[in-house]
Amino acid sequence: MKDFKEFAIEIAREAGIFLKDKLNSAHTINYKGEINLVTEVDKISEEMITSTITTLFPDHDILAEEFTDIDRGSDFRWIIDPLDGTTNYAHGYPYFCVSIALERLDTMIVGVIYDPMLDEVFVAEKGKGAFLNDREIHVSNTRGIIKSLLATGFPYDIREDRHNNLNYFNKMILKAQAIRRAGSAALDLAYVAAGRFDGFWELKLNPWDIAAGWLLVEEAGGTVTDIGGNNYFLESPSILASNGRIHKEMMAVLESASSI
Ligand code: IPD
Ligand code: CA
Ligand code: CA
Repeated sequence: MKDFKEFAIEIAREAGIFLKDKLNSAHTINYKGEINLVTEVDKISEEMITSTITTLFPDHDILAEEFTDIDRGSDFRWIIDPLDGTTNYAHGYPYFCVSIALERLDTMIVGVIYDPMLDEVFVAEKGKGAFLNDREIHVSNTRGIIKSLLATGFPYDIREDRHNNLNYFNKMILKAQAIRRAGSAALDLAYVAAGRFDGFWELKLNPWDIAAGWLLVEEAGGTVTDIGGNNYFLESPSILASNGRIHKEMMAVLESASSI
């Protein structure tokens, strides 16, 4: 049998190719909230991935965004975002991915993020480094936020809750070289791992948004904490991921904006 990493790459690719094929088709859009949408493609992608996992590893647990939360009492749990960047996808904006992570006894051991538009597969294995299409990747060497390209995102309840990241964004945009709100937290984290972004922060993400990207950043030599600098865990209410060199400076800027 293939190892977990090879298996995760295979199912991420299969789902990603499906997403790419359907990108320009008409989609059925349903709303989970005023600006939180889901298409039929998210659900089909999730079904493709979870059914294959269940066939090969029938005793494993699975958590995926749309409708899967299976607890079989296993030490292994697959954590899946079948389409990260749904808003982009629904508009035909080609920045989205499939994110698949495998956790064993509360430790992330495999993370795979696949961008089918660029045919880029980002892969990390605990203790074995991070790779992009088989080439080892590392976080950037950038020092100083003023030289940094950062990424962030905003929660779907941006209009309802004051903890919506606008305060942090307003401070950081005046300190950084530039900030992108590209629309896929998982891919943003993969880009931190690959040194394309120097840092990323966001609030209120879900386990499936960050599980694979978290391992990728750490295995690429970066630092992942919450925005206060505390150890990161899957349910943390915020995430700060960086090349490590700008971490403290980013924390200080976020801290200066924290009273809203
Ligand atoms: C969203 C994206 C987005 C982030 C949101 C996520 P979805 O995931 O990662 O960049 O800002 O908070 O929920 O809904 O496209 O899977
Ligand atoms: Ca997501
Ligand atoms: Ca999603």
